[in-house]
Amino acid sequence: MPPLTITENAPLAHYTTLGVGGPARHLVEAVSEEQALEALDRASSEGWPVFILGSGSNVLFADAGFPGLVLRIATRGIVAGDSNRLTAAAGEEWDAFVRLSVRRELAGIECLSGIPGTVGATPIQNVGAYGEEVGDTIRSVRVLDRKDGTIRDLSNPDCGFRYRSSVFCTSERERYVILAVTFELEPEGLPSVTYPDLESFFSGRAAPPSPWEVRQAVLLIRQSKGMLLDPTDPESRTAGSFFKNPVISEETLRDTEAAARRLGLLAESQGLPGFKTAAGDYKIPAAWLIERTGIKKGFSTGHVSISSRHALAIVTRPGGTAAEVLEFAQQVRGRVQSVFGIALELEPVCVGF
Ligand code: EPU
Repeated sequence: MPPLTITENAPLAHYTTLGVGGPARHLVEAVSEEQALEALDRASSEGWPVFILGSGSNVLFADAGFPGLVLRIATRGIVAGDSNRLTAAAGEEWDAFVRLSVRRELAGIECLSGIPGTVGATPIQNVGAYGEEVGDTIRSVRVLDRKDGTIRDLSNPDCGFRYRSSVFCTSERERYVILAVTFELEPEGLPSVTYPDLESFFSGRAAPPSPWEVRQAVLLIRQSKGMLLDPTDPESRTAGSFFKNPVISEETLRDTEAAARRLGLLAESQGLPGFKTAAGDYKIPAAWLIERTGIKKGFSTGHVSISSRHALAIVTRPGGTAAEVLEFAQQVRGRVQSVFGIALELEPVCVGF
C-alpha cells in the first residue's frame, strides 16, 4: 500500500462547488479503504477531529477552515452482483454510476441523473429528485463504525431514510464512514415519471420512455434550472438547493395561505403550491416562498446571489466568503420567516460555524 500522504493547510475552497472556505489543518485523499482506515487511526492517535468529504457539492466550510483532518474519500470501483444489483465504492462519481445503470437498462435511479457528488454521500441526505430518492433503491450500505472500528453492512431499514434525512445525518451523525453502497434496481423496469416537470416533458407519448430517455430529459430540465454543474458556467458555483422544502401540517398550511392572502401574495381562489405527503403533511416549495417575499432570481449582495435560474440555489462569485454566504442565507430565511412564519432549514452541511 502506498504511504499515506497528508497535506497540511489545504484550501477547502478548492474542494467544494461553492468555492469558499478556509484551510483544512490536515487533508488526506484516500484511494483505498485501507488508506481511509489508516488516516482515521492517525487522527484518533493525534486527537484530531475528523470531517469526511466526498466531492464537496453540498458543504459550506467556514472561513476559519477545519481544525483537524478532512478525509476525502476517493475510492473507486463498481461491482455488478445478481442481474439487478450494483455496488459502488463511496468515492465513485454519482452521475457516472447513474449513467452506467441506465446503460444496463436498470431502472430506479434514472431521475437522479445530473446530481453532483459521490455515491457515498447520497445515503446521508437521502438524495432525491423528480420523484425518486436513493432510499427507495438502496439495499445496503457498507460502513466503518467509528465506535468500535468494525466494518459491516447496514440494511435499508437500519439507515432510517426520510425526506433529505437518514441516521447518517441525525441519530448516528459522525458514527459511520460510508465505504460502499449497494443498489437493487429493476431490470427492464419502467422508469418513474411522476413528477410534473417530467410528465409534461413526455406528455402525448404513447409508449413509456426508457430509463435512458428519462435520464436525458432530467439532464435537460436540470440544465434549464442551472442545477447541472458546468465548470464553464459561473452560475455553477452553488451547493444545489440551499434550503429544504418545508414540510408543514395542514393547520400551518391554512394559516400560511391566510397570511399570504392578507398580504396579496395569493389570490382568494389559489392555494399554496406543493403536495400532500404519505403522512398527511404538506411539502411546500421553498423556492416559491422565497420568490413571493420579493426576492427575485438573480438577487445579489456582495459576492453572493440567488441563481438567475432557480430561486433555491445560492451562487458565489470569486472573492466571496463563507460568512457572506451564511449571512445571505440568513437574510433569505429571515424574509421567509417574517412573511410566512415558516423557518427554512439549510440543506448543505455547514462545518465550522
Ligand atoms: N419554484 C419557484 N421558483 C423557482 C423554482 C421553483 O417558485 O425558481 C416553485 C415552482 O412552483 C415549482 C416548485 O417550486 O413548481 C418546485 O420546483 P422544482 O421542481 O425546481 O423543485 P424544488 O422543490 O425547488 C426539489 C429538490 C431538488 C430537486 C428538484 C426536482 C429539495 C430541497 N430540492 O427542488 O434537489 O432536483 O426538487 O425533484 O428537495 C438538491 O437537493 O440540491 C436539489 C437540487
